[in-house]
Amino acid sequence: MKIKNICCIGAGYVGGPTMAVIAQKCPEINVTVVDINENRIAAWNDQDVENIPIYEPGLSKIVEEAKDRNLFFSTDVDAAIDKADMIFISVNTPTKTYGIGKGMAADLKYIELCARQIARVSTTDKIVVEKSTLPVRTAEALKNILDNTGNGVNFQILSNPEFLAEGTAVDDLLNPDRVLIGGDIDTDKGRDAVQALVDVYSHWVERDNILTTNVWSSELSKLTANAFLAQRVSSINAMSELCEKTGADVNEVAKAVGMDSRIGSKFLKSSVGFGGSCFQKDILNLVYIAKSFGLNEVADYWEQVIIMNDHQKRRFASNIVKTLFNTVSGKKIALLGWAFKKDTNDTRESAAIYVADYLLNEQAEIVVYDPKVKKEQVYADLDYLNSRSEKENRQRVSVVNDPYTCTKDSHAVAVMTEWDEFKELDWKKIYNEMLKPAFLFDGRRLLERDTKEEIGFEFYAIGS
Ligand code: NAD
Ligand code: UGA
Repeated sequence: MKIKNICCIGAGYVGGPTMAVIAQKCPEINVTVVDINENRIAAWNDQDVENIPIYEPGLSKIVEEAKDRNLFFSTDVDAAIDKADMIFISVNTPTKTYGIGKGMAADLKYIELCARQIARVSTTDKIVVEKSTLPVRTAEALKNILDNTGNGVNFQILSNPEFLAEGTAVDDLLNPDRVLIGGDIDTDKGRDAVQALVDVYSHWVERDNILTTNVWSSELSKLTANAFLAQRVSSINAMSELCEKTGADVNEVAKAVGMDSRIGSKFLKSSVGFGGSCFQKDILNLVYIAKSFGLNEVADYWEQVIIMNDHQKRRFASNIVKTLFNTVSGKKIALLGWAFKKDTNDTRESAAIYVADYLLNEQAEIVVYDPKVKKEQVYADLDYLNSRSEKENRQRVSVVNDPYTCTKDSHAVAVMTEWDEFKELDWKKIYNEMLKPAFLFDGRRLLERDTKEEIGFEFYAIGS
């Protein structure tokens, strides 16, 4: 079967970029991305393509090319579902904050709402694609809802997890290591559905890079990939602490072990801790699933990745306090970067939030500069923690538009995000305008020690 109309529910970091690329590469398919968030849809529809709600290098150009040709953004979810032959569900699946599984399990309420809406609205056969990251066997629950409340419509459910990373989303989508499609490969209809999605990706992805599996393998592969990736970061971060005690340098260790082709060199960059909306959420979900099957050793093994990451963030913050003569009370600390990594405006679970919170608890004054994160977002992130009143967050934290205003008169500067522009700053000027001794903490191994020490900084970098 040939797909003519695609609907994607969820116009976020995954739905937006993924559908923009599908629309660009498949001009004969109409792609409609829908969301209940009116502001988000309005931003996608903004006449000035630079105002789209997600910052990703290269994305605005693709949106510009496809928008209003075969790429549409709308809040009319029902209409888009009705028209589509293929529906991607790309809504958020955050960690549950209530009830059974609170703090661990994935909250599937948005997924279930989508399924019920699809069941209610559909009058023709549909292929429903799980794009969101979901616990293994979610497709079973989806099928139950769709088959029991539908109008005699045939639904095929596919799992097609997304592996893009923020900041490199466009490149990851255009040149994926692999595309994974899980489907009911034991039936003709299931195989047809898988083929229909294979045909969409085949517009630009080599057939050999499109992997088809059963649904459960596909669902579990996504959680596994994120767990392995996060585990590498926690592994190198664990070593960073040992490096600091022994005179070894974590970058040298990472290079040496990474040159072993069995280990590989990628994803071994020590940091102040991984952030982002998914690693922690997906590992907690994995831990919850393992526990629910009574697999306590499996659960404990993966939970350690999170424990290590929390330790790394805390350790970085407590080292600032310790180095500043055991008190930061009333001291101005400048944080360069708030996003969870460079080249994104996303701040979800960013290490900077937790470091700031720790320092605020020690009564520090915080000033933040990030090239892509808005002031309101910084406050929203801190308010969400509920550690102090919203008023106090605004009194004690300021967010500025310029790195030199941020660092001026500060006791310490901490690099929280590895934005390229931080390498190019006039560090001599920064040093001259800081209080002395001028402390510089590099949570990303972004800066060169020698040149900074030459200027006069008291320099501390993770893992050396
Ligand atoms: P997001 O929060 O940026 O976007 C989700 C969107 O879905 C929101 O705009 C929300 O308003 C919308 N939504 C929720 N319920 C809806 C409903 N019933 N009808 C219409 N719209 C609805 O989330 P995201 O970062 O795009 O992640 C989505 C999924 O993809 C998650 O499961 C995540 O784990 C997974 N994922 C994310 C990334 C990433 O880099 N962010 C990468 C791979 C996979
Ligand atoms: C991650 C995965 O890389 C994607 O494959 C996956 O699709 C996505 O999660 C998801 O499911 O949401 P993302 O979180 O966008 O992507 O970004 P990463 O590049 O993985 O970085 C995650 C965090 O780890 C960042 O805070 C980053 O700074 C940190 N990190 C990464 C390190 O500290 N060291 C490294 O070597 C790599």
